Amino acid sequence: MDKLIIQGGHELHGEVQIAGAKNAALPLMAASVLVHGTTELSNIPRLVDVRTMGRVLENLGLVIERDEDAGRLSLNATNLNSDTAPYELVKTMRASFYALGALIGRLGKAKVSLPGGCAWGPRPVDIHLKGLEAMGVTIDLDEGYVIADASRIHGAHFVLSFPSVGATVNLLLVAATIPEETVLDNVAREPEVTALVRMLQQMGATIEGTGSSTLRIVGTRDLKPIKQKVIADRIEAGTYLAAVGMAGGEITLKGAEPEHLTMVIAKAVEAGLHITVTAEGIRVRRNGELRPVDVETAVYPGFATDMQAQWIALMSVANGSSFVTDTIYTDRFTHVAELIRLGAKVTMKENVAKIQGPATLKGAPVMSTDLRASACLVLAGLAAKGETHISRIYHLDRGYERLEEKLRNVGAVIERQSE
Ligand code: UD1
Repeated sequence: MDKLIIQGGHELHGEVQIAGAKNAALPLMAASVLVHGTTELSNIPRLVDVRTMGRVLENLGLVIERDEDAGRLSLNATNLNSDTAPYELVKTMRASFYALGALIGRLGKAKVSLPGGCAWGPRPVDIHLKGLEAMGVTIDLDEGYVIADASRIHGAHFVLSFPSVGATVNLLLVAATIPEETVLDNVAREPEVTALVRMLQQMGATIEGTGSSTLRIVGTRDLKPIKQKVIADRIEAGTYLAAVGMAGGEITLKGAEPEHLTMVIAKAVEAGLHITVTAEGIRVRRNGELRPVDVETAVYPGFATDMQAQWIALMSVANGSSFVTDTIYTDRFTHVAELIRLGAKVTMKENVAKIQGPATLKGAPVMSTDLRASACLVLAGLAAKGETHISRIYHLDRGYERLEEKLRNVGAVIERQSE
């Protein structure tokens, strides 16, 4: 297993090219199942999760051509020959559960393994299933599988009890194929959801309310294959922004989309970072001390749960105490114990972390527990005195493209070592 070794204390200067968003690429890949013919996706990030999704889709019969260097994927779903997404594939990545909506949309039936929990607790799918049932899909749960029969599918008006990203994606994939009106209320408004809405519109579905909490969809059985570019990864951009906050220096996040980062930028400015929106993306500079700033995660456009761990790392070196609350995933704090090993002063009370800064971080061996937790440890390693060894970094490879190369290019001293 690979590990990362970081020599902390080096400022970051230069440019980081922000990759396509993993969380946008995966639903767009799932949407390719809906059509006969070849869907072409560009700005695809080179990530393990993208490859895993590719395997899920190939297992259904899709023919996929990859040009990883060019960031292109072409997915041909003409010879779809299976309605099953097995446990072995779905358990490795929750987004595989998008196969449910995609298969129902294309075939009118599906057998998809329940995704199960993950490192930070259970992640239910009740809203996905209730929404499908509202559209007339019969759902049976058998031996860990969702078995869906959509032979009596129809348009519906469904109010999501919480604006879940995953449920919104699955329900959109189905609604886009029903030639009747479906109204989805209280949907997620994350940019990755909007990217899927735009793709489905181009494929031929009529969808009103793009970017709002209510989507009116009139689908069609005759969706067309299209070309689509994946939007920039706002979480990757936010992570590098926090890296400058921790290590100091000035970098340009090339291709970052400031509109998708409004809350992170506002909080970063409050903390004392200098942020300029340029034609190329976002420039971030730190000079001087950081101020403590509280955050509470919320659905978009609120502060993303995917930035919570990185913010705790940043606040550990701010000049005073702050509180970070996760309201989306209340158990998502496995990084805190590892950060404490690096010298951060953090105490937990339920879903609230109290961070007492400024801590003098010191390198130590630490272990990654999930994707964003790993990113948080990398950030802390950049600021820590001495050498930080981060093991189990396969989590990082799921969601950060060539992380150590990008950091090295801006002056970090970081290397990957095979154990
Ligand atoms: C969430 C984040 C997303 C992030 C992803 C990975 C939000 C709103 N979503 O998406 O930005 O990229 O984690 O870290 O911040 N829920 C139910 N029943 C369901 C579905 C969800 O109770 O059927 C609950 C979840 O337990 C959670 C909340 O709703 O508390 C958000 O769920 P959802 O948006 O679906 O989560 P992800 O798709 O995992």
